Amino acid sequence: MVIQLHTHNNCIKQLSLGNFKHYMLKEIYETPFAIRKTYENICDVDFLKIFKHIKDITFIGCGTAYNSCLIGNELFKELGYNTVCELASNYQVSKEISKNHLHIIVSQSGETADCLKAAEKIKQLKGKLLIITNESKSTLTKFADYIILSKANKEMAVASTKTYCCQVFIFAYIYKVLSNKNYKLNIIDFSNKIENYIKNLNIQDIVEQINSLDKIILIGKDIDYLTLVEASLKIREIDYIFTLPIYSGELKHGTLSLIDNKSIVLALNSSNNAEKLKTAINEIESRGGKVLAFERFLQNLEVDSCYLPIYSIIPFQMISYYVAIERNLNPDMPRNLAKSVTVE
Ligand code: AGP
Repeated sequence: MVIQLHTHNNCIKQLSLGNFKHYMLKEIYETPFAIRKTYENICDVDFLKIFKHIKDITFIGCGTAYNSCLIGNELFKELGYNTVCELASNYQVSKEISKNHLHIIVSQSGETADCLKAAEKIKQLKGKLLIITNESKSTLTKFADYIILSKANKEMAVASTKTYCCQVFIFAYIYKVLSNKNYKLNIIDFSNKIENYIKNLNIQDIVEQINSLDKIILIGKDIDYLTLVEASLKIREIDYIFTLPIYSGELKHGTLSLIDNKSIVLALNSSNNAEKLKTAINEIESRGGKVLAFERFLQNLEVDSCYLPIYSIIPFQMISYYVAIERNLNPDMPRNLAKSVTVE
């Protein structure tokens, strides 16, 4: 099967599905290779120079790209920058932009209208702009002072999977370089590890338990919560299930009223510290709700914590794919959505 898609410059590209039934699954499996290619493309960039005089960073994106910005925002905050993360559709530029302020816009397509508008505003005020995109010739790159290309190759499925992982990888890698200027990554080991991880994921029991639900709550803390923002978007987008990511400590401030003996809550605790979600899990179970723990996928992984969000998201991407299959939905083309949103 070959899907035809119109790219922004109106040419038609065709990419073969190979042995896969859908692009979404193929693209999840392409993640390790995409990360390797991305690394090869950025390993010689002088990030120390780019970030030398930077004090403030604003991350901007839409949808999944915004969700990867949330991870970048969290990591760079740890490095001591003043960071803020903005939805491109809600971006309001200040009266002036200082020389020490870097704006980072992330966009898979580089054609998202809200991102283009934000870029235009930033450049009108002569702000410094770093663009992270998958498309080297996209309109967004024309506004850039610096461009970082994620080398995820063409992403055909509407749902962003491998590109999200590459975007998170870029942020985590820069974070490591800025923390230690002599940082070296063994990319072959790194990508092999992710490849084995994907091959050995067994998510069938979770798919069976959630595929008939009409709402799902996801709980986590710290960076896990940010991963769940993306996980829940993926399940909404592909499976048409209403999902709600909740910071675990917030459950008791309102959302607990949704829990009953039919509820299933997905819990992510990548730290493997059982105490972390204990209270929230007790709150759910004592109301008859069931908690499905995702840390089982992350056990015995020896990876730097900044790269963990890549591992954490993949089971959710897989689950959203297989639930769509169970529901007889086309995971590559969810209803009402387009790959690239070129209207504001
Ligand atoms: C991702 O699964 C979505 N299809 C969507 O949220 C997307 O990430 C968003 O529209 C932004 O697109 P962009 O990365 O091309 O700017």
